Amino acid sequence: MDIFIRQTLHLSHSSIMKQLLSNNIMQTPHELRDRNCPRKCSPPNGANQSDDNTKLKIAIVGFGNFGQFLAKTFVSHGHRVLAYSRSDYTHVAQELGVSYFNNIDDLCEQHPEVILLCTSILSTEKVLKSLPVQRLKRSTLFVDILSVKEFPRNLFLHHLPHNFDILCTHPMFGPESGKNGWNGLAFVYDKVRIGIDESRTSRCDRFLDIFASEGCRMVEMSCAEHDWHAAGSQFITHTTGRFLEKLELERTPIDTKGYETLLSLVENTAGDSFDLYYGLFLYNINAMEQIERFDRAFESVKKQLFDRLHGFYRQQVFKHEEKLP
Ligand SMILES: NC(=O)c1ccc[n+]([C@@H]2O[C@H](COP(=O)([O-])OP(=O)(O)OC[C@H]3O[C@@H](n4cnc5c(N)ncnc54)[C@H](OP(=O)(O)O)[C@@H]3O)[C@@H](O)[C@H]2O)c1
Repeated sequence: MDIFIRQTLHLSHSSIMKQLLSNNIMQTPHELRDRNCPRKCSPPNGANQSDDNTKLKIAIVGFGNFGQFLAKTFVSHGHRVLAYSRSDYTHVAQELGVSYFNNIDDLCEQHPEVILLCTSILSTEKVLKSLPVQRLKRSTLFVDILSVKEFPRNLFLHHLPHNFDILCTHPMFGPESGKNGWNGLAFVYDKVRIGIDESRTSRCDRFLDIFASEGCRMVEMSCAEHDWHAAGSQFITHTTGRFLEKLELERTPIDTKGYETLLSLVENTAGDSFDLYYGLFLYNINAMEQIERFDRAFESVKKQLFDRLHGFYRQQVFKHEEKLP
């Protein structure tokens, strides 16, 4: 399967579709901080100075919707957060207490302990390859939060120097579903490559502890296992949300609880970019099978209805024929 993934990463979209088809792939609770109002502090003057060795210096690469969402909580935990993105987010960063860099070399020269990749799934390979890793400390921890996991895992293993640590994660929530806190929300992680020294294991644990101490349900599982489960749950959710969005559903004076759930699903998924949804499809080898299952399920429900209707009419016709002389 690994060989298959490596091959697909280098193919055009249509060839990936052909390949997928031809391969027939199935398929402690704690004090909650006010993340809507994080501490507004000025970016630290010396972004490379540390006064508390339990705190991390985390560099977020890709400071869009999700990167900013995570940054608020990191800052509220007292970690020093640096950020870089394709667009200029200087003002947003200032509001959040994050040091913003318009130049990736400058950011890397701050020697962050953690590089957190928060780019779109589609741009990740390009962004990763463009990072001046030679400017980083030799034992930097690379983390990603992409909604697919095998893809960044393979990219990291392929492109990063051997002495860098790798942690692949997926917070199973976003700015909408996590807006009232992260308590009870799932956080998936896979320690793909963490050095055995105490300093490395402790750095990784301190990063994970941000989520654990927010009350997240910490789930350790392999990237492959994540992608399998996520296609059958998260991808189906996004697909249903997008499908319902096309129906342009509106509120009525007699909305049922079930209908309200549908409307909130549309609201939840419509807030995410189409790039994100497309990434879930293109970079999870299990997604194609789920689209096909979706299609088959709809056809099967229709068939069940029409078969019953057909049976009813048949009965009527034969009853009528019986009465004929
Ligand atoms: N939203 C969620 O609920 C959620 C939950 C869990 C995980 N995630 C993951 O978080 C990541 C970010 O998601 P998102 O919601 O912020 O939306 P997204 O549309 O998936 O990604 C937006 C980010 O990608 C960057 N980007 C897009 N195209 C780029 C390019 N060609 N070159 C360089 N950078 C590029 C953007 O940079 P600029 O803004 O500077 O243009 C921005 O930082 C994704 O990998 C997603 O799977 C999202």
